[in-house]
Amino acid sequence: MKKGLTILLTLLLVLAMSSVAFAAKGKIGVAMPTQSLQRWNQDGANMKAQLEAVGYTVDLQYANNNVATQISQLENMILGGVDVLVIASIDGSALGTVLETAKLEGIPVIAYDRLIMETDAVTYYATFDNYMVGTIQGTYIRDALKLDTREEPAYMEFFGGSPDDNNARYFFGGAWDVIEPYIKSGKVIVPSGQTAFEQIATMNWDSANAQARMDNLIAAHYSAGQRLDAVLCSNDSTALGVTNSLKGAGFEKDNFPYITGQDCDIANVKNILAGYQSMSIFKDTRTLAAQVVKMVEAIMSGEEPEINNTTDYHNGVRIIPTYLCEPVFADINNYKELLIDSGYYTPDQLGL
Ligand code: GAL
Repeated sequence: MKKGLTILLTLLLVLAMSSVAFAAKGKIGVAMPTQSLQRWNQDGANMKAQLEAVGYTVDLQYANNNVATQISQLENMILGGVDVLVIASIDGSALGTVLETAKLEGIPVIAYDRLIMETDAVTYYATFDNYMVGTIQGTYIRDALKLDTREEPAYMEFFGGSPDDNNARYFFGGAWDVIEPYIKSGKVIVPSGQTAFEQIATMNWDSANAQARMDNLIAAHYSAGQRLDAVLCSNDSTALGVTNSLKGAGFEKDNFPYITGQDCDIANVKNILAGYQSMSIFKDTRTLAAQVVKMVEAIMSGEEPEINNTTDYHNGVRIIPTYLCEPVFADINNYKELLIDSGYYTPDQLGL
């Protein structure tokens, strides 16, 4: 009986100590932009699961693409005593004031995937190499259209991302640098003439906005059966809008343009399997989350996190030390290995 009591007391003591250790590891605020795009749901879920697995408490919030909501969520996190903030911003330039408070409270800020602009309160940035995303998309189109060897010109349009997202210009810039020489030489023709970022941008990365712009382009330039060989879309939500518009206008599989994307959202992977989209950049959100969790761990133990870029990401105030993960592309040839064999999706999710 006495022995039993001692064991019980020891057990209770161990439990109490471990819960102290658990609480002492800290609280992390994770602010995500929206649940309306699939990827951010995965990013949020992965961050939460991986942080909790190493003993942190997590306050995860989604802001419905509303800047004021995100700001008030951040204020609450600061009031709630978080030790580190991890933020995927909606408008990268709108968080200066709230982050000033974080700075005063000594809370380090990690910009997640999208750089936070015009503030010195950002401590680190972790993302996939944004310019490389665009280069891979541009190169895919260049090769698909055989731009180096074809005789006749190819017809093409561009759809970029949200103008308030710093990444969007990098994506477009990377793609543009690959394609522009062919526009100059006359190998690529853009019938709409819209090639400036402001003209091709898609507010909020919204599928409906992309679809409406494609509807307009079709009405103005493609309604008499003109050829369209490629549509360079910066991500999957814009690709989805463009695809729906083309289908609605009667484009069939045999005259469907090459379409790029990014994020490997389920609807888009299904379109790749069905022959309506050519590729999508695969950003394994598990990899980015793991890297950011390592950053949090380093910060919390007073060490320097792993950084592999200290030159490219100036946020208007200073260069932010950055970790860049490497993006790859998925298409009909490698999707099985990348997306299914890696456990990212089950065949069932892709309707297989
Ligand atoms: C970007 C992100 C992309 C894509 C897009 C739409 O910032 O890097 O992967 O998801 O936002 O939300």
